Amino acid sequence: MIISILGHGVVGKGVWDMLQNRSEFTVRNVLVKKGEKTASFMVESFDEVLGDDSELVIECMGGVDPAFKFTSECLKAGKSLITSNKALVAAHGIELMELARERNLSFLFSAACGGAIPILQNLHLARQSDSILWAGGILNGTTNYILDSMDRRNLSFEEALGQAKALGYAEADPTADLSGMDTMRKIMLISMVAYDVLPNSDYNLEGIQNVSACDFEVAKELGYTIRLLGRCGLAASGRLYSYVQPMLCPLSDIFAGVRLNTNLAQYQGQNSGLMGFSGQGAGRYPTASAILRDVWSVLGGQKQMLEKKCLVGFACNDAAECARSYFVRIDDEGLEKLSGKVGVQRIVRKDNGKTFAITDKVTIKVMHDAISELRSKGHVVFFAEMKEEA
Ligand code: HSE
Repeated sequence: MIISILGHGVVGKGVWDMLQNRSEFTVRNVLVKKGEKTASFMVESFDEVLGDDSELVIECMGGVDPAFKFTSECLKAGKSLITSNKALVAAHGIELMELARERNLSFLFSAACGGAIPILQNLHLARQSDSILWAGGILNGTTNYILDSMDRRNLSFEEALGQAKALGYAEADPTADLSGMDTMRKIMLISMVAYDVLPNSDYNLEGIQNVSACDFEVAKELGYTIRLLGRCGLAASGRLYSYVQPMLCPLSDIFAGVRLNTNLAQYQGQNSGLMGFSGQGAGRYPTASAILRDVWSVLGGQKQMLEKKCLVGFACNDAAECARSYFVRIDDEGLEKLSGKVGVQRIVRKDNGKTFAITDKVTIKVMHDAISELRSKGHVVFFAEMKEEA
């Protein structure tokens, strides 16, 4: 099989390395940035890839522009497509899938969610014989590294973020990591594969920007630690909920034991029960290994990771399945306003004008709406779901 690669950065170089000395594959061209051509197999013009004889293009450029233009042109030119680019799939996956389907080409993207962890390919298989009740987990290495380092190594948020950047886990601009958007994009991909629905509005998103050392201190006293999790699932109404938010995990919970940059993805099948995959969610060779799995799947004839035409859906985070208790840190004045919106079950600690409290069960939507209104009035809040043990 003749292959061309778009990009020769962290992931692209890993794919190039892994494809060497494999008699089944020939790498025809590797697109690099202008001025970065250092070897004969590299080209600086996309037109050289478009016009070459490759049957499969592997996109590892990242970002949406020009990745969408290049990948859609490759499909229109009759080349199958593999990508590790979650931003591209979250923004344009439906269009790319249709372009591929109309031409009977392959379009696979398992490396775009969870790096080496085979969550998307297994969901694709599982849903053919089972109903997926929910799926998600810890899907961002940077935020898990920060939370775990604050908890076990007493690092400050900034120190831990600096280390995550130096180790290459964080994106060049870590805003999407910290805000939870990187996790949300992965949840969108999971939802596409598990449900043929892209939840691109009405989801709830809360990252880790507001966590501080005192939250870990109080969480620890309660027998918990803090993790960032995302999940999507099927409500009884048949509609889907989807969200990303910090969670207080009991120390005996499997997620509390997820260390450093490790990811842990789970799904609950109606018949299979709880399934989980843990491992490296980022990095050169872990991500390249997932791409190589997709290359073999293309060679074996796999065309799609989705069963049907994917629809754009609204999340239903006010469903009964979305009722949770929350841990909240808020200024005393804000607490009064919060208790007017969601019931406060108990006060855990009062300390220097700050209150740590546990709320009654409310839906994810009600909680996020209440907090965003409080923040718009200047209140400083950290909140996290009280995770029940799986
Ligand atoms: N910045 C991402 C992470 C890279 O930390 O998980 C992999 O998607």
